[in-house]
Order: sequence, then structure tokens, then C-alpha cells
Amino acid sequence: MPTVRDLQAMAGDERITMLTAYDAVTAGIVESAGVDVVLVGDSMGNAVLGHDDTLPVTVDEMASRVGAVARGTDEALVVADMPFLSFGADEGESVRNCGRMLKEEGANAVKLESGPHTLDLTERLSDLGIPVMAHLGLTPQSVNQTGYTQQASDRDEAAEILDLAQAHEEAGAFALVLEHVPANLAAQVTAAIDIPTIGIGAGGGCDGQVLVFTDVVGLADSSPPFAEQFGDARAEIATAVEEYVDAVESGTFPSEEHATTSEELDDLY
Ligand code: KIV
Repeated sequence: MPTVRDLQAMAGDERITMLTAYDAVTAGIVESAGVDVVLVGDSMGNAVLGHDDTLPVTVDEMASRVGAVARGTDEALVVADMPFLSFGADEGESVRNCGRMLKEEGANAVKLESGPHTLDLTERLSDLGIPVMAHLGLTPQSVNQTGYTQQASDRDEAAEILDLAQAHEEAGAFALVLEHVPANLAAQVTAAIDIPTIGIGAGGGCDGQVLVFTDVVGLADSSPPFAEQFGDARAEIATAVEEYVDAVESGTFPSEEHATTSEELDDLY
């Protein structure tokens, strides 16, 4: 079973790869391709559930997807991204929601979009054996306050991210996602802390990288400027479905090889 220590051991030696997945089939493909960490991101809200942002994603939706991803993987570390308001309002409820992802669904860790308000919870969860991946910079659950723009635009904001990164490491976080921040800040945070940093829109100076699956394979309607499309799955899927429709409409599918007959059943009508 993968552990957060295995991941920490990679930092500095090998670049860590993290990618989102939201179901067992995709998670299996992602793992077979060599991804180290499968993040069941709340990006599922806009990536696959048809919402405009991540805010509507529920704990039940996350739990169902985490269970599927955990069943679809053997080697990768599975991280459950805790949805908006599933943590932070009440400590007991936060711990139960996070614990459910490990206890009932098979996740190895949780990710919390972080800030000063997640320090105590990070410590409590870590003490309880629930590994916490912190997340600083652009935190999409705060879209109503920040929009989706690059964060840490001045020295004060950058210094706050550096302080929060160190404070979350001290609180017990095992890794840190840095999203949409200047590359020179991300590189300094990476140098300042011992836990691995995983960047998205944060340059090449982090210990690893994460992207959203639908952006990487070319299934997204629109992607952030820092994402890269490595394939055109939408076109491939569309071609396969169009060929299926043509085959049914033209009568070439199903052919004899797709059907069986039984003489016993002849002359019923
Ligand atoms: O929800 C998500 O997919 C994320 C990653 C983009 C870091 O938080």
C-alpha cells in the first residue's frame, strides 16, 4: 500500500506526478500510465459534473468518487479533496468527513484548501492518522473572493504564502499544492520546507506537478492558461460514437458475430 512517506522520499530525487481522476476506469488508466498520486479533485464539479465551479460538490459525491478511484487503483496514493464547507465550520464534523474518506472509501489522504483557518485542523487530522495535503495560492473554493487570477501578486501576499506553507508543515501536512502563483515564489517555498510541493501553474521549481485529467487528455471545454493538453480524447471519443451511430443506422451493427441463435427457439410465432 502506498504511504505518504514513500511520496516524501521521492522529493528532491524524482519528480512527483499527480493527476485527477473521478472514476475507477480513468483511475486505472492514470495509474497504469505511471502517475504517483491520484487526486479525486473537487474539480469534478466543473470537470465532469456540469457545474460552473467546485462549490456545489457534496461530501456524498466526493465519497462515491473516492471509493470508485480507490477500487480502480493498487499502487497510486489516492487523495480525497475535501469539498467546500465539508471542513472548517465545526471540528468534529470536519474530522468525521475527512475520516470517512479513509475509513469507508479507501483514500490514503485528504487535501484541504488551506489558510490560517486550517492549521489546527491539519494538526488534529495528522494526529489522528489522517494525512493532510495542504493547498495554498489559488484555492478555487474561494472563487467568490479571489476569482481565478494568479495569487501572491505583491511581496506581502507572497510572504503570507511562505509563512502559511511553513506553518502547515509544522502542523503536520505531508505535502503542499501550490496553485497559480509566480514560479519564483513556488521555488522559494519549495526550498524553505521539507515536505514535497506539487505545483499547478507554479512553474518547474516544485517537487512535482498536478493537472486536471480532462485538461490533459483534451476533454475539457475550456482550460486554465497554465494547463497543457497532451491528447485529443474528445475527438477520439466523438469518432467512435459517430461510427457506432452510423453502424446501427446502416444495419452493419450488430453483425452475426455479435448475436447467437438457438434452433430450439425457432417457430415460436
Ligand atoms: O480539485 C482539483 O483538481 C485540485 C487540483 C487542481 C490541485 O485541487
